[in-house]
Amino acid sequence: MATSPVGEVPCVSRRRPQVFISPMPELESPQRQTPDSLMLTGFWYRALPADRVHRNPLQKAMLLEIPLVLGRDRQGQPFALRDACPHRGMPLHCGQFDGEQVECGYHGWRFDALTGQCQLIPSLTADQTLKVDRIYAGSYACQEHDQFVWVYIPEPPAAGAGFTKQVEPPMAAPQIQRVTETCKLAYLTADMPVSVDHGIIGLMDPAHGPFVHQAWWWRKRASIHEKQKKFEPIPNGFRMSAHTPSSNSAPYKLLRLYADADSITTTIDFTLPNLRTETIRAGKYWFSSLTTVTPITRNHCRIDVVAAWNLFRWMPFGPELLKFVFAKFVEQDRRTMELQSQGLKHNPHLMLIDDADRPAKWYFELKAAYLEAKRTGSAMKHPIPEPVTLKWRS
Ligand code: FES
Ligand SMILES: [Fe+2]
Repeated sequence: MATSPVGEVPCVSRRRPQVFISPMPELESPQRQTPDSLMLTGFWYRALPADRVHRNPLQKAMLLEIPLVLGRDRQGQPFALRDACPHRGMPLHCGQFDGEQVECGYHGWRFDALTGQCQLIPSLTADQTLKVDRIYAGSYACQEHDQFVWVYIPEPPAAGAGFTKQVEPPMAAPQIQRVTETCKLAYLTADMPVSVDHGIIGLMDPAHGPFVHQAWWWRKRASIHEKQKKFEPIPNGFRMSAHTPSSNSAPYKLLRLYADADSITTTIDFTLPNLRTETIRAGKYWFSSLTTVTPITRNHCRIDVVAAWNLFRWMPFGPELLKFVFAKFVEQDRRTMELQSQGLKHNPHLMLIDDADRPAKWYFELKAAYLEAKRTGSAMKHPIPEPVTLKWRS
């Protein structure tokens, strides 16, 4: 697997001198684990917000250290190709796109954008019989849902060059849980300079709230109190069973404007490889979010939150308020992980404690069980045998 992130490659296209350059810094922290054990293949991942994927210019993205180029064909259908020509590796985002075929900027080979199949090699003479249509640029299944373009990363990773056709995904890309059809949607995204594992266990960690998420309008450190939550196993993950949300949780404070405290319930699921789903219901009102932590490189991930709701009909600025609160929280997490990455550079020994870090332990156990099942071809052995109650102070 190529390990160098897409750098600032000089573009040879005359028509499209403007290309998207990923703002991601290149990090060189030492690694304790191999990339394969950090990043799971055989799943859908959010590649880019849908409003950043256009017909022209094509967009670069990176998933699991695979450089991709994304665009839309004439019908608006998104596509994702490996951003390296199977001929001699030229990044395809530097070529030209006519709405149907991507033309490499080096020797003009043309590839069907949706399938990656080679359509033309201009240097071939009439009597040369090379079978052009047997050649494929790496091509990935794409789906657009809930404001994001998702890309299926198969296992084993599709070869960057040669004769590999697009892999048909065994399941559809995840979608946000909707209680009613009509709702509003919004998204937030933040780059985190840590591995996907640290991103995920940071997301599910209940103990950092009083220290990281302080704000005068929100909560003080002194609001820390003992909590107790029930968890149960679900396929590929675990669920914090339906309960009344913590009195110091953000959506809860907003929902209190709509309903009695007793009628508000929240359910939070984590499922491999990286999905956190939260659904809060208060009578006929609901709020749902699907948060993903996407592995970009072995020491860089991205958190994307998409929220859907049917609230705020009479509340001016309700959605803006909610977005502000979420943006603030995500920024506090991002800043914390940026600092954490400085400590992680020196490869320290780390520890996970009960019960506050139990979800993090389950995450690693789930991942290990998934990889073991893949290795042996047997059914995955779920690491959480039965429902359990965890206690912590936060
Ligand atoms: S490198 Fe792409 S056509 Fe030669
Ligand atoms: Fe947080």
